[in-house]
This record gives sequence, structure tokens and C-alpha cells, in this order.
Amino acid sequence: MNSSGQTVHVDLGTRSYDICIDAGNLAQIGSLTRSWLERSAEQSLKCFIITDTNVLHPHANAVKASLTAVGAEVRVVCVKAGEASKSLKEMSDLYDELVDFKADRKTVVLAVGGGVVGDLAGFVAATYARGLPFVQVPTTLLAMVDSSVGGKTGINHPKGKNLIGAFHQPAGVLIDTDVMSTLPDREYISGLAEVIKYGVILDAEFFAYLENNVAGLNERDPVVLRHLVARSCELKAYVVKEDEYETTGLRAILNYGHTYAHAFEALAGYGKLLHGEAVSIGMLCGSRLARKLGRIGDTEVQRQIDLLNAVKLPVDVPEDVVKRADDILNCMLLDKKTVAGDLKFVLPDRIGHVETIGGIDSSTIIECLS
Ligand SMILES: NC(=O)c1ccc[n+]([C@@H]2O[C@H](COP(=O)([O-])OP(=O)(O)OC[C@H]3O[C@@H](n4cnc5c(N)ncnc54)[C@H](O)[C@@H]3O)[C@@H](O)[C@H]2O)c1
Ligand SMILES: [Zn+2]
Repeated sequence: MNSSGQTVHVDLGTRSYDICIDAGNLAQIGSLTRSWLERSAEQSLKCFIITDTNVLHPHANAVKASLTAVGAEVRVVCVKAGEASKSLKEMSDLYDELVDFKADRKTVVLAVGGGVVGDLAGFVAATYARGLPFVQVPTTLLAMVDSSVGGKTGINHPKGKNLIGAFHQPAGVLIDTDVMSTLPDREYISGLAEVIKYGVILDAEFFAYLENNVAGLNERDPVVLRHLVARSCELKAYVVKEDEYETTGLRAILNYGHTYAHAFEALAGYGKLLHGEAVSIGMLCGSRLARKLGRIGDTEVQRQIDLLNAVKLPVDVPEDVVKRADDILNCMLLDKKTVAGDLKFVLPDRIGHVETIGGIDSSTIIECLS
């Protein structure tokens, strides 16, 4: 690793692990995996890589080469890119592959891909033989700053997203920001919504850093990328440490913008709006709601609009969705985070701080769509 590398420690007692972040560190995954699993060079190492069709060449192959170079026996399984792979059918096929590979409880599962691959591979690792060691190599911005941190794994049920899953923390995470050179713009920009979210909910200084580095964000400047990934991981790691199993309520602050966003995603038809795009629009609805309730002023709303615009994230609710107020409310009420019909919203009271607020009437929620 060159001297610019950065490590974020996720402090979870016996489940603690490191996130190693750098540009061009992918070739170190072999030696890092050995050290995370405390497996010396003489000991055998079986690695089961799960990736997708867009990530196989060149990234998953590079991971395979690095593992092979440290003497590991490696099997690569490639699933079809896209959300549809987070399915029971795919799980079942992967279990078959693991049996065929003669995986035992020391076999490590590596996820090389975006959040889809991470969630799927993590759930396979959590469940096969009652739990295999798991390593994440996230390759989308969203996976780097969000889904690879915190141990949530799972798949979709035809009736609901992420309905089936488990908490399973990885043994380590390697982030090579260079792998984003192949990531399409739309996916990259979508990931920035979660990055901006961390600024609003927890860190005013980080929000200002993003405002001051718009050019670097848009050009994917390696120094800016490393900082924004590392700071986002630190902030998520802090929340996860305080509320690993989503019991104290703190982890809920990560849902800023998401109550609206989930409804937009569902109504636009899954796949029409990328998650981060929906979150961007949802954050603005949330900030208008906060403004209406007198919790923030116009400046705080405008700063969010300006930053989201500057990185080319959408900020307006799609026209066909805006007309469907009743459907939006129904979607929100069906959200698994809704308790006994009371919609809870994570709302800022300044940039860098949020609170969870309930008891808001439906008409106010709807007025904030535009
Ligand atoms: N576990 C969690 O805490 C958590 C948090 C947030 C989201 N998620 C889940 O994450 C998923 C979304 O993740 P995502 O946005 O990464 O989607 P994704 O995994 O579908 O990746 C997006 C697209 O980019 C492609 N891709 C990935 N890396 C690439 C690269 N380096 N170069 C070129 N193409 C690349 C993929 O093949 C895919 O087509 C959802 O299923 C969501 O539920 C989980
Ligand atoms: Zn999100």
C-alpha cells in the first residue's frame, strides 16, 4: 500500500474489523485475507469469490490472481448483474456450488461487487454451515460507503425488498477506489447521495468539505475519493458501533430521506430511479418538511439543493409520482420502519444533526413533495 492508504477500524468487540482504503491496493487482497483470518502462509486457504457479470473482468479476476499468489485455492462464481440476483433461487445455486467446492467452515466467502453481490454473498456466508468467514471488496460507491459497512446481509422476497436476511460482520473490507474507473457515471453519482447524507446527519464539517470540493467530486479526484470514502465509512462505523442490531434507534438516523425515497422507488417502478437518486429527492422532501416544522431555515434547505445539483443528482419528484399522494402515503405506511401507523421522519435541525420526529399529519408530509 502506498503511504496515502487509510484504515478505518469498525469497533464491535469480538466482531471488530478493518476497512483498508487506498487507490490501487486490490493486489493486496491475498495477503490481507490471510492476515484478517489469521491464516499463516503455510496454512491452507479456500476462497469462494462471488461477483457479477459487470465486475468479473477485470476486478474479480484481479482478486483471484492475488489470492492464488498467496497459495489459496479459489473458486469464482459469477451471478447476473442486477437486483434480481438477490433471490432464493440464486442462494440455492450458490449453496450447490459451495457443496461442489467441498467448502468447510474455514472456507472464506469474498464479495467482489456492488451492494447486490455484497448482500447476497454476505447472506450465503452467514448461513452456509452456520456461518463462514466473509470478506468484502465493494466496487460501487454505494457499496463502499454504505452496504459494506455494518453487517446487514440479505435477499429479496417477491413481496418485499431485503425481507430475508441476517447480521453477519465481515472479517475485513478492502476498498480500492481505482476500481471505480469502470463504474458508470449514473451509478457513481447515485452513490454520492449517501455521502452527502452523512454530512447532513452527522458532520457539518464534512458537508462543507463536499461543498468546497465539487470539482474533485465530479472528476473523481483520487484524493477527494479517498477522503469521502474514508469519512463516510467512519461515520457509518460510528453509528453501527452504537447500534449494531438496530435496537437503540440511533441506526435509524441513516434513514434520512429514505422514508420518501422508498415510496418513490416503489412507485416509479423498481429500477427506474436508482436508490441514490430517490434518496437525493427524498432528502429534499425531508428538508422541506423540517423547514415547514420550523426546525431549519431556508439556508439549510438551499445548501442541500445546491450541493445535490452541483453533483448532478435529481432533486424533483418525478411528475407521475407527485400526483399519487395517496399511494405515496400508503407506501410509507407499509415501510417496515413504520410503527403502529405513525410515520417517523429523520429530520435535520441543522446541517450535521438530525432527530427522529413522529406525529406529523399526512397533509404536511404531502405538501413537501414540491
Ligand atoms: N447491506 C446494507 O446495509 C445495504 C445498504 C444499502 C444498500 N444495500 C443494497 O445494495 C444494493 C444496491 O447496491 P449497488 O448500488 O452497489 O448496486 P449493484 O450491486 O446492482 O451495482 C450497480 C451496478 O454497477 C455494476 N458495477 C459494480 N461495480 C462496478 C464497477 N466497478 N465497474 C462497473 N460496473 C460496476 C453492477 O454490475 C451493477 O450493474 C441493493 O440491493 C440494496 O438493497 C444494502
Ligand atoms: Zn440508502
